[in-house]
Amino acid sequence: MEKLKKIVTITLNPAIDTMYKMASFELNKGHRVETPIRTAGGKGLNVARVVRCLNEDVLATGFVGGTNGEFIRNEIRKMGIEDSFVIIEGETRVCLAFNDDKGNQTELMEYGPTILESEQKRFLNELPKILEVASILVISGSLPRGVTPELYKVMIEKAMNIGVKVLLDTSGTTLKESLYAQPFMIKPNRNELEQLLGTPIKNDEQIWSAVKNVSGQYGIPLVIVSDGANGCFVSYYGKLYKVSSAKVPVVNPVGSGDSFVAGISVGLHRSFPIEETLALASACGAANASEFMTGLVNPVKVAALMKQIKVQCVG
Ligand SMILES: Nc1ncnc2c1ncn2[C@@H]1O[C@H](COP(=O)(O)OP(=O)(O)OP(=O)(O)O)[C@@H](O)[C@H]1O
Ligand SMILES: [Mg+2]
Repeated sequence: MEKLKKIVTITLNPAIDTMYKMASFELNKGHRVETPIRTAGGKGLNVARVVRCLNEDVLATGFVGGTNGEFIRNEIRKMGIEDSFVIIEGETRVCLAFNDDKGNQTELMEYGPTILESEQKRFLNELPKILEVASILVISGSLPRGVTPELYKVMIEKAMNIGVKVLLDTSGTTLKESLYAQPFMIKPNRNELEQLLGTPIKNDEQIWSAVKNVSGQYGIPLVIVSDGANGCFVSYYGKLYKVSSAKVPVVNPVGSGDSFVAGISVGLHRSFPIEETLALASACGAANASEFMTGLVNPVKVAALMKQIKVQCVG
């Protein structure tokens, strides 16, 4: 019998996101604080969590190391995310956020460990076995030190060659280089698109022309430019769709893009029509924005929000 396929997420540089809440944060002062909130962070892990919230099987891989790596593996296992992380010599990073009562957030983001060549080889050796059980491969985030965009390219090509659809959510040079490997989907936000084009974007017209150019030039079936509460701009096999955003009270929009990508992966995994897939994704993004925690959505809320979202074929 064929094994049931699942969604696979890649997080090459995960982090323990640690958030301290305090009345005020001031330079040159000591602060007494309550125990911080610690979560398994990194964009791919946000995606994996939202996929689990939508009740689909998900396997997470990438690199983790040290006691911080152990923490992350424990956290994801508790959520029912299958753990296939490659263990490295270095210590997984910690990212700190100091949130004060006035809504200010001060962040410290470690670069994270350098990934050795031998560790990358181990990862690549394990990849075929993982791809065998994958329906969709989600590759998210920037590259850790020691890793070049070539690794993303290799992963994309290996997956796409055996019919595993790759959803790529990254930025800068890594995104630019990876386009040549032809992932199934890319999802830059407005800023990331500006970086990719090397020019500022002034209006919707310019977004549409970029969406058409990128999909045509690189042969990428699904190109999505997301723009927060303004919804998103989509090209799917040459057809253009404008997707609205649901109206929600915004609590914390960080990770809405990751939640959106999780929605796309679940829609594709369930073979939904593209319109329904896009509505699910947009609802996941909005649901995430309405919660305090990053990369957690309430499936009942998602279903309700989906009804609000309009997916219009515009060309
Ligand atoms: N304030 C909001 N209200 C409703 N929907 C939202 C809101 N913010 C985001 N979304 C939904 O989530 C999608 C992705 O959001 P956005 O463009 O902000 O992603 P992003 O910048 O990649 O986020 P991140 O990288 O932090 O995960 C949007 O297209 C929209 O559908
Ligand atoms: Mg994003």
